[in-house]
Amino acid sequence: MRKIIIDTDPGQDDAVAILLALASPDEIEVLGITAVAGNVPLALTSKNARIVCELAGRSDIPVFAGCDRPLAHTLVTAEHVHGKTGLDGIPLPDPQMKLQDRHGVDFIIDTLRAEPPGTVTLCPLGPLTNIATALTRAPDIGPRIAGIVLMGGAYFEVGNITPAAEFNIYVDPEAAQVVFHSGAPITVMPLDVTHKALITRDRNDALRALGTRVGAVVAAWTDFFERFDKEKYGSEGAPLHDPCVIAYLLAPELFTGRHINVEIETQSALTRGMTVADWWRVTDRVPNATFMGDLDAPGFFELLTTRLARF
Ligand code: BDR
Ligand code: CA
Repeated sequence: MRKIIIDTDPGQDDAVAILLALASPDEIEVLGITAVAGNVPLALTSKNARIVCELAGRSDIPVFAGCDRPLAHTLVTAEHVHGKTGLDGIPLPDPQMKLQDRHGVDFIIDTLRAEPPGTVTLCPLGPLTNIATALTRAPDIGPRIAGIVLMGGAYFEVGNITPAAEFNIYVDPEAAQVVFHSGAPITVMPLDVTHKALITRDRNDALRALGTRVGAVVAAWTDFFERFDKEKYGSEGAPLHDPCVIAYLLAPELFTGRHINVEIETQSALTRGMTVADWWRVTDRVPNATFMGDLDAPGFFELLTTRLARF
């Protein structure tokens, strides 16, 4: 059993990641969900996180609003991918459950201080603003973190929001730099992996065929944001980026990668937010992250479908 905090900016693929975690109570205990500004502004991500909890029948999960803007720059959002609400694709009721009063960053700090050291894993699925703010404000929590498994960055796939940068890192590179220099054990799911987690027609049909509300909603979400990647990459189906983080906790054998040095470009106007990953180990910079490179896609979708069938 692993205790986690999901830090997120839902986002349809964030939503599927949350569902996957909540479908796996034997392996994962979700201590709370902290929302951050990213795909859409904070008011929407903190609302969407609660919509997803209620869809899963888990209005008991505490949801906190975190930072509403990146550390140093204005917020860049991705409505062009996720739609105006961030969860476009199928209408869902407004949440009944309330946001917690505490700030998301305080929840991260308090939880890491309250739980035994080395027992809480952070799972960031959006820009790293909340995590970096927590680490900066309370440096004592760094050594208490069991691990940070995050979706962000790219090496071989380079970028999706600019030619050089992946969205989550691009939105807040200064925060990413804090996290990658924190000394905590970091596992990265970059685009190199998540672009292999393509939800093809057959895979989406299998979710719809579950005949459940969750199956129908997930199928409608992925139908919606598939249009964007199809147009852009000509790929068959949408990449389920963020669920890779949770799948890794459940079945790490589905992924392979390298323990390498990863630095974040924060200066250059052209390559801001680039993850400069020393995949080929051509520098003597000290490794600070396990950077995944490959995924067993059929195994990933088997895991996702059988877990979501539990709802
Ligand atoms: C990441 O950006 C967001 O649009 C997705 O939710 C994912 O976390 C992919 O670049
Ligand atoms: Ca996300």
